[in-house]
Amino acid sequence: SDASLVDRHGRAIRYLRVSVTDRCDLRCRYCMAEKMTFLPKSALLTLDEMALIVERFIARGVSKVRLTGGEPLVRRDAIDLVRRLGRHVGAGLDELVMTTNGTRLTQHAGTLAEAGIRRLNVSLDSIDPATFRHITRHGDLAQVLEGIAAARAAGIAVKINAVALKGLNDHQLADLLAWCVAEGHDLTLIETMPLGAVDEDRADRFVPLTEVHARLAARFDLALDAHDSGGPARYWRVAGTSVRLGLISPLTRNFCEGCNRVRLTTEGMLYTCLGHDDSVDLKAAIRDGGLAGVDAAIDAAIAAKPARHDFSVAAGAAPAVARHMSVTGG
Ligand code: GTP
Ligand code: 5AD
Ligand code: SF4
Repeated sequence: SDASLVDRHGRAIRYLRVSVTDRCDLRCRYCMAEKMTFLPKSALLTLDEMALIVERFIARGVSKVRLTGGEPLVRRDAIDLVRRLGRHVGAGLDELVMTTNGTRLTQHAGTLAEAGIRRLNVSLDSIDPATFRHITRHGDLAQVLEGIAAARAAGIAVKINAVALKGLNDHQLADLLAWCVAEGHDLTLIETMPLGAVDEDRADRFVPLTEVHARLAARFDLALDAHDSGGPARYWRVAGTSVRLGLISPLTRNFCEGCNRVRLTTEGMLYTCLGHDDSVDLKAAIRDGGLAGVDAAIDAAIAAKPARHDFSVAAGAAPAVARHMSVTGG
């Protein structure tokens, strides 16, 4: 069937996030533990299966596909997937986008642009080299900045993502915004979410974005902006510039009522909410029942999409969701 996807709460699903790998070349402290166990390669969808499943979603009204990870560009055939899905841009898909840590952009920016990527979100939690290294454990700021410049040179718009972390980068966020204003990048700030065990207690690092916003408003003239990227952020315009500041506040300002998205993992599991464990196995569906099996499984999953997540970060509490962000791609 080509019927569009609407859940029990009347929410139309138009945005598919695809985690193409759970692996990453960095180990951001809020995302991963230092020692991680990754999925065995034998458990993964083939590139063709992944593309076929995404194409079912496009046939059923999904107009925006975001490739995520882990770090999508560490998967060897990620570029082949981008090329294949890029054929749907303007023919079913409005946007094919990617969230990346930027470490491999210098090499891949040109190919991504050619394949139809017009917009990238780059995770960059600090523009101070030492802070950046500390948060990512392994990251080299200069390498990421070079990658961002390469994307820009290839004609790709870059939005910066930063997770606000108390005592790590929260007092530098005005500097990050100033850098974004100087460079012409939008900036989205994100509250740290309790997914997967990391090596520290996220409660110690949590800072509400209401507080960060108040601090930024003391230095920048911010006006609420109606811009809607189709994602969870609410936007403010930095007066006198083209730059927008986005806030993603899952803990202090729930946005689930307007949720338009579901997530496919590299193993072929479909998660209909970031904050829940429920999933359906589209790898089994495609292997046992072909594309009709995939359609039936998608219908069952959408019908059961939870109303909302229930995240909180209480001191000492286990993460609300045991799987890491890199499995579902955020
Ligand atoms: P735009 O298309 O630019 O709006 O991007 P996006 O915000 O949709 O995607 P991105 O990958 O940049 O995600 C930014 C942050 O939003 C990540 O930390 C995601 O985990 C988080 N996020 C995206 N969707 C949801 C959601 O449905 N629920 C929650 N709690 N967080 C989400
Ligand atoms: N909470 C909030 N954001 C996170 N990200 C990764 N882990 C977390 C977390 N626990 C962010 C990354 C990236 C986006 C996809 O998700 O920084 O920008
Ligand atoms: Fe890698 Fe992104 Fe997680 Fe950092 S936040 S460890 S870059 S997947």
